[in-house]
Order: sequence, then C-alpha cells, then structure tokens
Amino acid sequence: MAAEASFGPPHATQPEAAGARLTPSMAASAAAIELRQVHQRFGEVVALVDVSLTIDRHERVGIVGPSGCGKSTLLSAIAGLIQPNKGSIAIGDAITPEERLRRCALMPQRDLLLPWRTAIDNAAIALENRGVRRGEARERARPLFERFGLAKFEQRTPAELSGGMRQRVAFLRTLMAQKDILLLDEPFAALDSITRSGMQEWLLTALQQEPRTVVLVTHDVDEALLLTQRVMVISARPGRIVRTLVTDLARDRPRREIVTSSEFTALKESALEALES
Ligand SMILES: Nc1ncnc2c1ncn2[C@@H]1O[C@H](COP(=O)(O)OP(=O)(O)OP(=O)(O)O)[C@@H](O)[C@H]1O
Ligand SMILES: [Mg+2]
Repeated sequence: MAAEASFGPPHATQPEAAGARLTPSMAASAAAIELRQVHQRFGEVVALVDVSLTIDRHERVGIVGPSGCGKSTLLSAIAGLIQPNKGSIAIGDAITPEERLRRCALMPQRDLLLPWRTAIDNAAIALENRGVRRGEARERARPLFERFGLAKFEQRTPAELSGGMRQRVAFLRTLMAQKDILLLDEPFAALDSITRSGMQEWLLTALQQEPRTVVLVTHDVDEALLLTQRVMVISARPGRIVRTLVTDLARDRPRREIVTSSEFTALKESALEALES
C-alpha cells in the first residue's frame, strides 16, 4: 500500500502561493500553528490547562493521552470549531476561528459522513466545495478508493459500509480537501492491525513525498512514534502537556526493525511512563 502514495493532484492554493500576508511575528517564527497558554473549560469540566505549542510548517506532531484528557478539544480549538476561553491560537496569520477553519482539513473522531451521499460523493465533497464539478471530483477520488481497499464500494452509502470502511472514506475526504494542514483525530482507530499498518505506511510515504503540517491524535503510542517527529503527552484531565518526545528515528528501514530498535523502545517507555504518572 505504501508505493505510489500521493494525496492526489497538486494543490493550487497553498497560503504562500496565494500571496497570504504574514504578520511580522509569524514571518519571524515561520510557525504553521501556534498555541499560547490555551485554557478550555466546559462548565465545571476543565479540559485544557495552559497548553502552549509551536508547530513548524510541515512538521508532524503526535498527541497522546488518556481518554477524556482533551485531545479532541485541542484539535477542535486549532480548527476553529471552538474558541478557547483563554489564550490564543494562530494558523499562520489566521487567528479568527473562521479563518483557521479555512486553512486546515480536520478529520473528526466520529466520521460525520453525509448519510444520503454515496461513499465517493462523500469523498468528493471537499473538492466540490472548492468549485470542482462533481464528475471531476469523483474521478480524482477514485484512485484513492482503490489504494485504500475500497474499490467497488464507491456507490455505497455510509450505512452500507463497515466502521473501518467509513473511517477510510472520512480519511480520504480529509486528504481530498488538499489543505496544507491536516488535523487527524484517531484516523485509524477503527481498523484492524494489518489494514492500519498499511494506512500508516501509505500516509508516511505520502507525507515524505508531499509534506504537510500534521497534528495526529492517537491512543496508540507506537502509531504516534512511527508517524510523527514530535510527540506531546497530555495528562489526564485537566489536560496539560506533561512530556515532549522528539522522535528522530531513522525511518528508511522496515517497520519491524524500527519498532524493535533500542531508540524506539526507549521513547515508548518514556511515553508510557508519562502516561502513567
Ligand atoms: N462540547 C463539549 N461540551 C461539554 N463538554 C465537552 C465538550 N467537548 C468535550 N467536552 C469534555 O471535555 C473533556 C475532554 O474531551 P475530549 O473529547 O477532548 O477528550 P479526548 O481526549 O479526545 O478523549 P477520547 O480519547 O476519549 O477521544 C471531556 O470531559 C468531555 O466530556
Ligand atoms: Mg477524542
């Protein structure tokens, strides 16, 4: 599944290409995403406390933490679906929720596919929203259906697909948005381990060929270490960043060699220790 990994046609509207203005501070830091002292509460529930994080353009960052610690809240806040009670979030020079939402492609934890649209029309919707005709949008989505083991299911509605299939359609739809920033919330959680490994390999190869800025939320420490360059461990609620692991692993070797290497094992131990503390 790793060969020929590609997100599809080159995207024409990278923020820089479109001549987006950079404020002096963002130009100096060249950060793709910047969170400063973000606090989020929902009534009595304090979800996030003092989260500060700077993510460089085309950096891949993993977020791991126990259930309910605020991982999805963090992605929703970055994407502009919620505005934090305190602190600030910028995606490049975009600071308002609406502007942030336009800059990124969010794959939410629940697939949120439109039940009345077929699988391929769900995937194509991101391109249609950008003015591409439905027929052409379908043609662009079709190769990824084959690549992700969904060939022949293009015309099925979400109710006719398995949970893992729906998750792959939602992932595909996120990629089809052709955004420079991908916010992925447990993108492979519903998949069996073989399909999941295949998807991970595909994503890693695609990102090496066409880098994107990625924030990957996952329960799976191995997945975070394998796919990202930096892993942030979040504590149980109220969620705060309790450890940062830089995962500069040599990746040009088979997966089983990576996961059994001493560097990988040490990183995993450190992540698990932080999760248990
Ligand atoms: N819109 C909301 N309204 C009220 N409470 C919310 C809302 N969104 C999240 N919460 C609460 O905030 C806390 C963090 O939720 P969040 O979904 O971010 O956790 P998570 O780390 O993604 O968990 P999981 O690993 O189970 O997906 C939880 O206590 C949840 O109940
Ligand atoms: Mg979540």
